[in-house]
Amino acid sequence: MKLSERKIIVTGGPTREWFDPIRFLSNASTGKMGVALADEAFRVSEDVVFIHGPISPELLEGKKYRTLSVESTADMLEAVLGELTDMSVLIMAAAPADYTPVEKSEVKIKKGEGDISFSLKRTPDILKNVSMHKTEKGLSKLFVAGFAAETNNTEEYAIGKLKSKGLDMICLNDVSAEGAGFGKDTNIMTVFINDGSRVELPMQSKGEIAGEILRIIENRL
Ligand code: CTP
Repeated sequence: MKLSERKIIVTGGPTREWFDPIRFLSNASTGKMGVALADEAFRVSEDVVFIHGPISPELLEGKKYRTLSVESTADMLEAVLGELTDMSVLIMAAAPADYTPVEKSEVKIKKGEGDISFSLKRTPDILKNVSMHKTEKGLSKLFVAGFAAETNNTEEYAIGKLKSKGLDMICLNDVSAEGAGFGKDTNIMTVFINDGSRVELPMQSKGEIAGEILRIIENRL
C-alpha cells in the first residue's frame, strides 16, 4: 500500500498544562517540524490532518489540509485516537507536556512572601496509548513514527523509546547540536527503524528532512 493511499496524521508543537487561568507548563517546541511534515505529507496524500498544540497562527496560513487545534496532552491523545484508522500513518512530531498540575486553580494564584511548590502528575503517553489501541482494535496496517528530542545518551534513549512505545520507527533529534532543535529552520536526524537499521539525515532544512522522513516511511509500508 502506497503512502498516497494512506491517511497521514501528523502532530506538532507543544501542549499546555494550566496551573490557573494565567499560567501553564509547556516546552520550547514551535511546531515548525510538524508543519514541515504535514506540508510534505500533503504532497503525497490528499488525506492529511495536522493535530497541533498552541503554535504561531502564521505557520498555518494558507494550508489546504485539515488542522485540529488542541491544548493539553490529554486533548491531543483524544484527537489522535479519534483520527486513527487501520490505513493511517501517524507521525508524532509533537512535544506533549509530560506532567500536569495535580490541582488547577479556577482563579489566579496570588503570590505570598515565601517560595511556592506544586505537585505534578503524569499526563498520558500518547504513543503508548496508540500502541495499546493498535493491539486492541487489531489495526495491523497502522504505521507509527515517533520522535525523540534528546540532549545526552541520544541513541540509547531513542532506541529505548522505539521499543517501549511499540513504534515502527523513531527520528532522533539531538536538540543540543548546532543546526538542530527547537525553533531552528534546519535539523539533523538519525532515523532508527524497528528492523535494526538506521538512516542518517545530515543538516538540511526542516522541509528537506520532512521529505526524507516521508520517503523512508514510503519504503517501509
Ligand atoms: N510523546 C507522547 N506522549 C507524551 C510525551 C511524548 O506520545 N506524553 C511522544 C512524542 O511525540 C515523541 C515521543 O513520544 O514522538 C518521544 O517524546 P520525548 O519527549 O522525546 O520523550 P518522552 O517519552 O516524553 O520521554 P522523556 O521526556 O523522559 O525523554
